[in-house]
Amino acid sequence: MPFHSEQPIKQVDNYKMVAAFYDYLMRHVNYQRWYKFVSAIVNKHHVGGANILEMACGTGKMLEQFIRAGWMAVGVDKSAAMLDRAKRRIPMEFQENNLIVGDMRDSRIYGEFSAVICLYDSINYCMTEEELKKSLQNMLDNLLAGGVLIFDICTIYNCSHNFRDYHEKEFYRDLDYTREAYFNPATNQQTNEFWITESEREEIIYHEKHIQQMYRISVVKKIIEEEIGSCKILGIFENYTRRVGSEKSERVHFVVKKT
Ligand SMILES: C[S@@+](CC[C@H](N)C(=O)[O-])C[C@H]1O[C@@H](n2cnc3c(N)ncnc32)[C@H](O)[C@@H]1O
Repeated sequence: MPFHSEQPIKQVDNYKMVAAFYDYLMRHVNYQRWYKFVSAIVNKHHVGGANILEMACGTGKMLEQFIRAGWMAVGVDKSAAMLDRAKRRIPMEFQENNLIVGDMRDSRIYGEFSAVICLYDSINYCMTEEELKKSLQNMLDNLLAGGVLIFDICTIYNCSHNFRDYHEKEFYRDLDYTREAYFNPATNQQTNEFWITESEREEIIYHEKHIQQMYRISVVKKIIEEEIGSCKILGIFENYTRRVGSEKSERVHFVVKKT
């Protein structure tokens, strides 16, 4: 705990405060290169109209690029604060019915999409294999036959090498934040804790505790191949490349076709 314990700590929902500086936190991520990687796969397996569902779309950086390329794009996220940020970059006409608060684990049909994507560790918020299976099933249920689901997972290797014990103290506009990241190799859980203060109201410390579950590639593969029907893994790729992903990759993308 980086603060004096007498200061009041206000526990808030994940991303309620982080949403304001999420894009700053992600400034190292090249979303344009990522879009090229994802859209090339989506275009190659294109079926139906040009409509895409992004599950856990966050602040809409990927969604925006699909919209600019002429896609009808729907973004779903559990956090209204993240979607509020997405509204700042998504054209008005796309906002009303296309940015939806929702939970990927809930069985819900948003439409029949040519493609479904779920990126940047979002799937690692599924804390059990059962939740993971439900989420993947729901994403496939929103997909047209022949369309592709693309999602990534953060690897155990990435957490244990880069986020085992990571501290950051930063400020962004009128917010100060302290981030502590730690990895538990016994449970394969990655925790990111944030303590945030506003410059105008320094007496209140907001706290968010994000816990994510890391899964071995073989576990995810088994769930898709043996527990979820009517789909086929087309590839498991390292980062934003066509190299085969492995446990030594920092991130791997699964490309799954609905059959
Ligand atoms: C690391 S961010 C990634 C956001 C975005 N995909 C990107 O690439 O920048 C994780 C996102 O997953 C969302 N999320 C976490 N659990 C979720 C759930 N069960 N259902 C829907 N969204 C969820 C969070 O609100 C957050 O916006």
